[in-house]
Formats: sequence, C-alpha cells, structure tokens
Amino acid sequence: MDTAVVARAIHVAAVVHWIGGVWFVTFVILPAVARIAEPERRIALFEAIEGRFAFQARISTLAAGAAGFWLTWKLDAFDRFLAPRDFWFMHAMVGLWAVFTLVLFVLEPLVLHRWFEARAARDPDGTFRLVLALHRILSAVALVVVAASVAAAHGGW
Ligand code: HEM
Repeated sequence: MDTAVVARAIHVAAVVHWIGGVWFVTFVILPAVARIAEPERRIALFEAIEGRFAFQARISTLAAGAAGFWLTWKLDAFDRFLAPRDFWFMHAMVGLWAVFTLVLFVLEPLVLHRWFEARAARDPDGTFRLVLALHRILSAVALVVVAASVAAAHGGW
C-alpha cells in the first residue's frame, strides 16, 4: 500500500479521536459538571475527568502532526506553505495543531493548571464560564478546519 495512503488514514483517525474528544468534553462533560457540582467544586471535578482525556489527546495530537508532516512530504507539498492564498487550509491545520500542542504540552502542565486553580479559588463561577467559552471557541474552529480540509483535499477549493 502507498505510504501516503497509510499517512492519510493515520492522520484522519488521530484527528477524529482528538477533535471528537474535545467536542465531547465541551458539549457533554462540561455541561454535566455544571449541573452536578457546586461552583466551588466544578473546576476540580472537571480537571479530574478531563485529565484522563488530556493524556490521550497528547498522543493523538502527536500522531496527527507526525502523519500530517509525513503526508506533506509524500505529496511533495511543502511549497504549499509559500502560497497561502491557494493553500490556506494547510496553514489552518498547522495553526490549530500548534495551538493544541502548545496548550497540551507546555501551557497546561506549566502554567494553566495552577492559574485556573488560583483563579477558581477567587471566582469559581467566572473561571468555569471562561473554561467553557475557551472550549467552545476551540471546538468551533476545529470543526471548521476539519470541514475545510476535507473539502480542500478533495478538490473543493
Ligand atoms: C502538523 C499539522 C498538520 C499537517 C502538516 C497536516 C497536513 C495535511 C496534509 C498534507 C493533508 C492532505 C491534503 C491533500 O490531500 O491535499 C491533510 C489532510 C487533512 N487534514 Fe491535516 N495536517 C495537520 C493538522 C491537521 C489538523 C489539526 C486537522 C483537524 C483539525 C487536520 C485535518 C485534516 C483533514 C480532515 C484532512 C483531509 C483528509 C482527506 O479527506 O483526505 N489536519 N493534512
């Protein structure tokens, strides 16, 4: 089998797991936490649940990125990054991947975890609403990038 086909399959499977998980957290877990826990306990409960997914998301983010770069190499498509007007979806994919990589591997373990904990102690309700808003924005952007990438990869643009 052509290795570009393998890379594409791994790329899409990793994206499905990772972005699907983000949507599940945003639109299922977070609303459930808001219903079952008092404001003071929401962030701690949410972190305890999301921590398990964050570990999996790190793996699928790595797999999606590695397979994405492998695919770019196999398609001899690195020069697309020099033509953003025609290949903006490549920049959208890499940009979104960079944001998640930064959050999952650097910001969350080093800064965000402590920052959210301290903020939640002062303002639990506002902190939970901020977490929800950030997840909604990332989920919506990710969905648009997925749809645009499929359309672009199949000649839609
Ligand atoms: C390091 C980051 C990434 C790189 C280098 C990358 C690279 C690529 C390449 C080269 C293609 C094939 C395009 C073509 O056939 O013309 C592709 C397809 C695709 N990518 Fe990415 N990508 C990355 C991240 C992402 C992210 C974050 C998402 C989702 C949010 C994503 C979703 C997709 C989808 C859905 C396709 C279309 C697959 C198909 O229908 O054949 N990619 N990507």
